[in-house]
Amino acid sequence: MTSHFTETYTLSNGVHMPVLGLGTYRVRDQEILDACLLEALRTGYRLIDTATVYRNERAIGNSLKRIFEQDLVPGLRREDIFLTSKLAPKDQGYDACYQAVQDSLQNLQVDYIDLYLIHWPGTARLKLPDPRNAINRMESWRALEDLYREKKLRAIGVSNYTLGHLKQLVQRPHMVHPHPSHHHPHQQQDPLPPGSVASIQAPTEHRALASTLVIPHVHQFELHPRLVQKDILDFCAVHKIQVQAYSSLGEGRLISLDALPPQKSKRESPSSSPSPPPVAPLGALEIMPYLIQKYFPSVNMSFERQEEDGVGTDAVTAATYARYSAKILLRWGLQHGFVVIPKSTQPERIRDNFDVFEFELEQEDMQQLDLYSLGNQRTRYCWDPTNVH
Ligand SMILES: NC(=O)c1ccc[n+]([C@@H]2O[C@H](COP(=O)([O-])OP(=O)(O)OC[C@H]3O[C@@H](n4cnc5c(N)ncnc54)[C@H](OP(=O)(O)O)[C@@H]3O)[C@@H](O)[C@H]2O)c1
Repeated sequence: MTSHFTETYTLSNGVHMPVLGLGTYRVRDQEILDACLLEALRTGYRLIDTATVYRNERAIGNSLKRIFEQDLVPGLRREDIFLTSKLAPKDQGYDACYQAVQDSLQNLQVDYIDLYLIHWPGTARLKLPDPRNAINRMESWRALEDLYREKKLRAIGVSNYTLGHLKQLVQRPHMVHPHPSHHHPHQQQDPLPPGSVASIQAPTEHRALASTLVIPHVHQFELHPRLVQKDILDFCAVHKIQVQAYSSLGEGRLISLDALPPQKSKRESPSSSPSPPPVAPLGALEIMPYLIQKYFPSVNMSFERQEEDGVGTDAVTAATYARYSAKILLRWGLQHGFVVIPKSTQPERIRDNFDVFEFELEQEDMQQLDLYSLGNQRTRYCWDPTNVH
């Protein structure tokens, strides 16, 4: 397999972020993490996605330390890895957030973290409509901005923000660029999009309070063909916020053979019909068998056992279907320019999910997949932040 660990997107502050990484949600066991991380890094993954609430930062730190010290991936150093962690909702607010990052640094056993995200727009134990949610996350952001300036974090961002939450953060009043002489000579500079509200000069009385406005470098949210939120994608594009998709495989449910409606063994090209595909249970993607057959012609995609000249071929297995659907979904994300972070604890799947650089979906197939997010076909598999004030 060709190595693709050099494939990166460039964030608005110039930092390079790998296009594909390993998700680690619900993986806590040290031995399993040791095996997964080693497999992933040997395969070519260079991005690891964790969070305080996953309670695996310490174990990930231990695994990485062992890999570096024992040179288990020859030549691999800390600076080759892009580590992401996230602020727990219980730690919202300036002081708690500042401290939480120190704890993450200690648990991960590193001097800096490549990307730190506010995991969720709300605060633990506050009701969703409570206006303190908005105040707290803004205070957390100020702490992240300070830690970014202190170079403890190479990039900062948010996760699970709605368009409203994003606008509130990016279009803050009274925030100005400090006078250039206030900059530390080695300070990271954030280019602001021309005409952004953030670049407007604040009234003089606010200048003393003003600090550099950092526009989030990354927004990580649930994103797959069943949940494309175009307004958020457009906003991110305008403000040069890199989109990172999570639950690209619908937590496994988008790639489940069981979710498909009953199949006919011969499938027609769905591109012959311009209308969106019909709704299926559990958010299945009915186009998938067709796409698998088109891009992986050697895969036997028949849905029943076939006999020809006395030679029998078994029906497609759930594992084969999941394996190739996963590739198509990851490829869809990559071709849209999203960072993808599939999670698996199975070495073979970890390798398979990285083997997505050798084929390309045609434009018409990308469009067909996009159609699944229209109207009532939208499906959310993870958290819904819509009602967080
Ligand atoms: N910011 C947030 O709020 C947030 C929320 C959710 C997720 N995330 C991040 O995004 C990552 C990915 O999302 P996710 O964990 O929700 O789900 P996902 O990546 O959509 O799906 C993971 C599931 O699919 C299975 N799977 C993976 N590759 C497969 C393959 N090739 N064939 C068959 N099955 C496969 C995995 O099982 P096995 O492990 O058994 O292989 C697991 O059950 C998370 O781990 C986390 O790092 C962030």
